[in-house]
Formats: sequence, structure tokens, C-alpha cells
Amino acid sequence: MSTNREIDFNIFLIGFMGTGKSTVARALQEELQFPLVEMDERIVKEQGMAITEIFERYGEEFFRDIESQLVLSLGMEESAVISCGGGVVLRPQNVSNMKKSGRIVLLTATPETVYERVRYSNDRPVLNGHMNVEYIAGLMEKRRALYEEAADVTVATDGRTCEDICQEILDKLEE
Ligand code: S3P
Repeated sequence: MSTNREIDFNIFLIGFMGTGKSTVARALQEELQFPLVEMDERIVKEQGMAITEIFERYGEEFFRDIESQLVLSLGMEESAVISCGGGVVLRPQNVSNMKKSGRIVLLTATPETVYERVRYSNDRPVLNGHMNVEYIAGLMEKRRALYEEAADVTVATDGRTCEDICQEILDKLEE
């Protein structure tokens, strides 16, 4: 990958669960030598509980409140790679806060690809009990406009290597 980069803003990776945000974020971080923030991991650490447990004990709105607080505080950082939770676009305020300090990269994948990537996961409460392609496709469709409207750059991930995906992201961010 070329290393002559002129990126001095936060890169927020968004997209449905299983679109590869965490994996791509790690690769981008290595390439750019930026700090990496994995939003879900940070929430788990701060709350001392798994995401599923937060949902079960306090409900989804509580999780969304913490998520929004975190997005707000991330605006204080500069030049970080941030892997967001898949539901971050559900609140328009999160999107406008992300745009204040960085650019938003949407990763996409088909429902079939997502299913293959997340089918054995049990820490995604939104999919617990609905782990099938039809449900994933329906939820993805419900969220599609939110993802597309938030994105500054969109990159498809199906059947591609991480390196290839990162290259396309960096090329598009530098355009
Ligand atoms: C969610 C996605 C998850 C996590 C939570 C809710 C969602 O993140 O934030 O389970 O609503 O799409 P990943 O996209 O990293 O799995």
C-alpha cells in the first residue's frame, strides 16, 4: 500500500454488523499509524459488561445513550480510526457529531455475507434469536437510507481482501 497520506481527520467506519469494520479499522490504523478506537470494546470496558448484558439489564436505549456520549467525546480526538457499532447511525445527532471531526466511511456487504460472518456470534443482541439471512436482509433494508445518507465514502467488502478494501478507502479519502 502507498504510504504518502494526507489524512489529518478522524475516520469513522460505519456499516451493518459483519461488514468488517473492526478488521478494516485495524488495518487502516497500521497503515496510517493512527490510534484505534473500537467503540463497542470501549463501552464494554467502561461498563464492565458485555454488550448483551448491557441490553438485557438496562435496555437498548441505555446502550444508545452511552454510544452517543462516546461519539461526542471522540470528537475531541484527532486523526484516529474509529470502528463504530452498527447502530450508530440510528441517531442523527451521532452522524452530525462524527462529521464535525472526521469523515464517515460506509462498509457494505450482502445479507448472505453478513450471515456467514456473524452466524456464530452470540454477542449481538440485535440479532439474538433472529440469526438468519431473511432477518438480516430486513433489518439492513430498514437501515439502508440511514447508512447511505451518513456516508462520505462507500466501499463494498464482499469477496475482497482487507488490503484491497483499505486501499480503496484511502484512495477515496484522498480524492
Ligand atoms: C449493533 C451493532 C453492534 C453493537 C450492538 C448493536 C447494531 O456492533 O454496537 O450489538 O444495532 O447494529 P457491531 O456492528 O460492531 O457488531
